[in-house]
Amino acid sequence: MTALIEARSLTRTFRATRKSKVQAVHDVSLLLDEGQRIGLIGSSGSGKSTLAKLLLGLDSPTSGEVHYRGSSLKNANMRGFRSEVQVVFQDPRSSLDPQMSIAEIVREPLECLAVDGNHDLRVQEVLELVGLGDDIADRRPHQLSGGQRQRVAIARALAPRPRLLIADEPVSALDALVRDEILELLEDLTTRLGLGLLLISHDLAVIARLCSDVLVMHDGEIVERGSTREVFRQPQHAHSRALLEAVPRFS
Ligand SMILES: Nc1ncnc2c1ncn2[C@@H]1O[C@H](COP(=O)(O)OP(=O)(O)OP(=O)(O)O)[C@@H](O)[C@H]1O
Ligand SMILES: [Mg+2]
Repeated sequence: MTALIEARSLTRTFRATRKSKVQAVHDVSLLLDEGQRIGLIGSSGSGKSTLAKLLLGLDSPTSGEVHYRGSSLKNANMRGFRSEVQVVFQDPRSSLDPQMSIAEIVREPLECLAVDGNHDLRVQEVLELVGLGDDIADRRPHQLSGGQRQRVAIARALAPRPRLLIADEPVSALDALVRDEILELLEDLTTRLGLGLLLISHDLAVIARLCSDVLVMHDGEIVERGSTREVFRQPQHAHSRALLEAVPRFS
């Protein structure tokens, strides 16, 4: 079976100063299958968001390639890719345009990607899917709670019927109660829709709950990978142990 998305030896170097460079991602290879849910953990600055951007095609690797359904992003049909791989960011306050209504925000990717079908209907469908009523369609983002805004961000991501959702710290800006609601929603939606998920989180309980597999990043490299259960039970790499030891219930 062809993987949904594959990273082949991805490296991304940034120029830090005139003389020095930082390898934010170094020689990272990974496979994510259709419907698979993988967690990506690692301390701050280990390269998680950079890797996510490379996988989303929002940034280009210095070397290496991303393949989507077996074709390199360099020559793939980007329109198909753009609708099938969607992202949810940490802070919906900054990721949602404050000038647009909720309905416009959710409809925008359908228009930009020229998705087939009735867009109004699809907007209604996905708002319902994320548990939001019709009454919020005409509101602006600032007229919603943080949890409702993150539901809007998820609805927007789901609108073009993606196969893979990349979520970079999707619940870390929310209080514990709302966080649990959003996690339950993500768990339910990915299961029901058979959606692949790459979930970046500093919260290991979040990873344990949603992801069957986990990747541990350190200094731009994946230092450990495996089933979440195994890695959390018996981390092999010193850095994974350090991350897990910071959380009493997993040590
Ligand atoms: N556009 C950029 N220009 C220069 N350096 C960058 C850029 N983006 C990221 N970096 C550097 O690359 C490294 C990895 O950053 P990245 O944001 O991917 O880490 P992260 O694992 O997502 O961290 P966090 O958990 O804090 O979000 C860091 O050293 C960062 O300073
Ligand atoms: Mg990050």
